[in-house]
Formats: sequence, C-alpha cells, structure tokens
Amino acid sequence: MISRYLLRMRQVVCTGTRLWLREVTEADVAALHAVYGDPQATQYMPFSPRTLQQVAALVEEGVRSAAAEPRLLYVLAVLDVESQEVIGVARLHIDAERPHSAEIGLGLRPDRWGRGMGTDLVRLLLAFGFKQLGLHRVWGARSPANLPAQLAMLTAGMVEEGRLRHHVSTPAGWRDSVIHAALDGEWAER
Ligand SMILES: CC(C)(COP(=O)(O)OP(=O)(O)OC[C@H]1O[C@@H](n2cnc3c(N)ncnc32)[C@H](O)[C@@H]1OP(=O)(O)O)[C@@H](O)C(=O)NCCC(=O)NCCS
Repeated sequence: MISRYLLRMRQVVCTGTRLWLREVTEADVAALHAVYGDPQATQYMPFSPRTLQQVAALVEEGVRSAAAEPRLLYVLAVLDVESQEVIGVARLHIDAERPHSAEIGLGLRPDRWGRGMGTDLVRLLLAFGFKQLGLHRVWGARSPANLPAQLAMLTAGMVEEGRLRHHVSTPAGWRDSVIHAALDGEWAER
C-alpha cells in the first residue's frame, strides 16, 4: 500500500501574498540560471555556479520528477505575484525511506534579496509541505556562514537542530551543515 505521504500531487500551484510557486518548465531555464549560475547566489551552495546546460538538466529532472510514481521531488519556479516574473527556484525532496519527511532548498535572484521574500518563500514551502502534501517534518540544511538563510528559516519557524560535520563536499573542500526543521504540529500552532 502506498503511504499517505506519497499521494501524488501534480501541477503544483501554491500562492502567497507576494510570491507563488508552480512547476518548472523548459521555458524557465534562463530565469533559473539567474540563480544557479550566479556566483553570489551559489556562494553558500555546495557547487560552483552552474552553466546554462547544467540548469537545463536540472529543469529536465524537475519536469521528469513531476511524472514519477511515487513522486518524491518537486522543483518549483518562484514567481513574483505583482510582475509575474520568475525570480527564484525552490525544491522539496521527500525522503523515499521516510516519506513523512522532506528536505527543502531555495534560492532567489540576488536583486530581490533583503526585502523579506526569502522568509516568505520558506513560509510558502512549509505551507506546501504541511497543508498540500500532508508531511510531518520539513527540514533544510544551510552553510554555517549563510546568515540570510539562517534568519529566513528561523523567522519562518524552522528551529535549529544541530550541526552535521562534513555534511557536503564542495569545490573548496568538506563543509558542515546546520540543520533546521519544522514539524507539522508546531507549524499549525503558529
Ligand atoms: C537565503 C535567501 C533566499 C534569503 O532571501 P532574502 O529575500 O534576502 O531573505 P529575507 O529578506 O527574508 O531576509 C531574511 C533575513 O536575513 C537578513 N538578511 C538578508 N540579507 C542579509 C545579508 N546580506 N546580511 C545579513 N543579513 C541579511 C534579513 O534582514 C532578514 O533578517 P530578519 O528576519 O531578522 O529581518 C537568499 O539570500 C538567497 O537566495 N541566497 C542564495 C541561495 C541560498 O543561499 N539558499 C539557501 C540555501 S539553505
């Protein structure tokens, strides 16, 4: 029997006040490259800025994952409600062995930083994970040096759980991660 956590969700749309999320399409490659290909935006990510071809492959993976059964990966375009421009990208990856739990990742175009949109995006991902997918736990890993990500996750209600030493391999060597998480009960209380 398929777990209730893996009930499929297709053609995701999740709407907030300033941002909304939808499935990525091939037409989003250039917009996503403005995040994944940007040296500033990838500063705390465990990889060097991606090429356009690498971003196209990530988008392709996202499109493929939307049709997978069970669906474990959501790659979503982040749009500005006012301008309807794609200004970022969000991922939610359900753990196949623990399908009550999913990891989120997010990035916005640097020209949109510092206006509370990152915090809004974390909130929107939590709402998507808990309300639409019925998850129990949503977590994220950040570089210990990534202060904006730390503040965005804390403000949105993702508590710090601890530090994983040498969690990821980066072009600069091993990097620790600080883990943040929210649980559905706690989140509902907020
Ligand atoms: C993480 C990210 C999404 C945050 O986006 P953002 O729109 O700047 O976030 P917010 O405006 O909501 O700011 C969040 C907090 O960080 C603070 N902040 C933002 N930029 C900052 C900076 N450069 N230095 C210090 N603090 C900063 C804000 O003041 C805010 O703090 P507050 O809640 O106390 O007011 C954005 O920095 C980003 O896309 N980074 C690249 C990708 C990345 O690192 N993703 C996270 C992986 S875990």
